[in-house]
Amino acid sequence: MRATAAIAAILMTVVVSAQVANKPAKVPLGLLPIPWPADNPYSADKVELGRLLYFDKRLSADNSVACATCHAPDKGFTDGAPVSTGIRGQKGGRSAPTVINRAYSLAQFWDGRAPTLEDQAKGPIANPLEMDNTHDAMAAKLSGIQGYRPLFQKAFGSPDITIDTVAKAIATFERTLLSGNSAYDRYKAGNKAAMTRAQIRGMDVYFNKAKCDQCHEGVNFTANAYANLGIGTDKPEPDTGRYEVTKDPIDWGKFKTPTLRDITRTGPYMHDGSLKTLEEVVDFYDKGGAPNKNLDEKIKKLNLTAEQKKDLVEFLKALEGAPIALAIPSSFPQ
Ligand code: HEC
Ligand code: HEC
Repeated sequence: MRATAAIAAILMTVVVSAQVANKPAKVPLGLLPIPWPADNPYSADKVELGRLLYFDKRLSADNSVACATCHAPDKGFTDGAPVSTGIRGQKGGRSAPTVINRAYSLAQFWDGRAPTLEDQAKGPIANPLEMDNTHDAMAAKLSGIQGYRPLFQKAFGSPDITIDTVAKAIATFERTLLSGNSAYDRYKAGNKAAMTRAQIRGMDVYFNKAKCDQCHEGVNFTANAYANLGIGTDKPEPDTGRYEVTKDPIDWGKFKTPTLRDITRTGPYMHDGSLKTLEEVVDFYDKGGAPNKNLDEKIKKLNLTAEQKKDLVEFLKALEGAPIALAIPSSFPQ
């Protein structure tokens, strides 16, 4: 009996330590625990597989474009351009958003058309302007790469490669790309020296004078809602944003309020990349946005002084997170 108990105890220790080893790293200062979905929970094997897939150009029809092409780690997980360039040099109509802190987002894309990261990851693979593949052709191509099969076996318990397992692995990897531990987070945690005087003044402008937190609120600086600021509404055929998804006139010209974390790294700004600098963004809000038939009622002239505008920009810089530790693959499964 005793021997059985001892063996059971040893087995328990093995199981528990295996679980500990397979736990995600602690989230950076200032962020909330990651809401791991029940149908795609964390595993280290999935993160590792997702990391390879995210950087692998073979997901595209002609092996020329990876997720990382448009969401590059050295460009704040965007591409630094007003709109993205996909396969065969084709330009899309919208700016690539960052993929940091997507774990907290209640919907993906500027218009929120994808409810989950798993769903989102399937979009670009089949988008003719981005990777121009089909889900079946992509899965067949990866299935022919012998080196991938054991990695899918480890991550999903089967070597079969499908669009669903590809999307689940990429989504799991994306949920580990977290930006926190910024000067603002350290300041809030009690280190009053973490922000400059200008940043502290700018924080007051942000929350009390300009009330940017009416939309960019909470830990990820977004209420996950949609608003019309008027960006691009003067074009002959404006991008109607959320309206394309709901067909409800109330949503005309609305876009998802983006996170402001790492905002220094993700310019140019707005869904069409039309504002180049944070100074331009602050000027845009100061003037009351771009008036149009559906301008959000929270967007009004702010009449900020030159000093307040400078301080507000300085505060936005305090939202730059600690660099994300990420190994960029130097080789891929063959
Ligand atoms: C050719 C450039 C390009 C490629 C390749 C690309 N993306 Fe994107 N990505 C974009 C653009 C542009 C958007 C915004 C499109 C929209 O909102 O309609 C976007 C949106 C996203 C979003 C939503 C972010 C948010 O805040 O709503 C995520 C997540 C994302 N991409 C991840 C990926 C993944 C994963 C891959 C690879 C499977 C990928 N992207 C491939 C350009 C690209
Ligand atoms: C009514 C809601 C609302 C308010 C108030 C608001 N924003 Fe925004 N913000 C948005 C939306 C929506 C977008 C994206 C709009 C688009 O691309 O058409 C955005 C975009 C931005 C961007 C660009 C982000 C990117 O990744 O391109 C910055 C920076 C920004 N806002 C800062 C601020 C600041 C600073 C304030 C206060 C002066 C503020 N916002 C007030 C809703 C709001």
